[in-house]
Amino acid sequence: MEKTNHPRQVESIVVGRATTDGAGVNLTRVLTQPFQKRLDPFLMLDVFKSDKPEDYIAGFPDHPHRGFETVTYMLAGRMRHRDSAGHEGLLQSGDVQWMTAGRGVIHSEIPEQESGVMEGFQLWLNLPSKMKMTEPWYRDIRGEDIPSYVTKDGVRVKVIAGTSNGIEGAVKRDDTEPVFIDIDLPSSSVFSTSLSSAHNAFIYVYRGQAKIGDQLVAEGRMAILGNGPDFDGVSMEAGEPARAILVAGKPLNEPIVQYGPFVMNTQAEIYQAIGDFREGRLG
Ligand code: FE2
Repeated sequence: MEKTNHPRQVESIVVGRATTDGAGVNLTRVLTQPFQKRLDPFLMLDVFKSDKPEDYIAGFPDHPHRGFETVTYMLAGRMRHRDSAGHEGLLQSGDVQWMTAGRGVIHSEIPEQESGVMEGFQLWLNLPSKMKMTEPWYRDIRGEDIPSYVTKDGVRVKVIAGTSNGIEGAVKRDDTEPVFIDIDLPSSSVFSTSLSSAHNAFIYVYRGQAKIGDQLVAEGRMAILGNGPDFDGVSMEAGEPARAILVAGKPLNEPIVQYGPFVMNTQAEIYQAIGDFREGRLG
């Protein structure tokens, strides 16, 4: 395991807020607009978890995106997606969909189950100005194809993006250099991984609780990690079993203008996106 001599400390703890999106899906928005600058290049993190069909069954019917990437990680459940280019896929427990909306897609994300647990995350990752109007792209990554490793403490790590402890993840991006890992800590375990000191980073604990640096972080909390040139990584400790995602990336330091599902650099580009969508030029 990569030794961290100066692990990052928790700068602040964020409690998500309950919201409704799509056609009536109840979810928790953890990374909200006020944190977009602090956590640049990440724009949003939604957490969904429910065993009540009425919380998720309506799904997300046809809607557009432009200017960024969406990363959907299913922990439990089945979700079918279809887009305006005729692509279709089924995400199942453990799978990831990485979609680059670029200049625009219109797609739907609909649960394909009428009961049981639906749980997962949707992370929005910004695109640099020069890539905002790129060709749309997506990839469905089966859970078994996500690179993973187990430490000698028995910590199981899935590397969705970036590199952790020498293991290269399923997706790599040059401009934002995202790291997205899922960490499953057994009781009495310690985990560390190196992180670039210039990257913004956060951890969301979704089972149990974990000590990050010197601070105990409870279930359902996002810990924003402090930045600084001396910090070479992050370390975590779990007394009881815990699970968390760690997300880090290189800030773009560009203006962020968001209007719903469009994230551009200027207001004029937002008006353009709205116009293109209304006139059928987006998907
Ligand atoms: Fe979407």
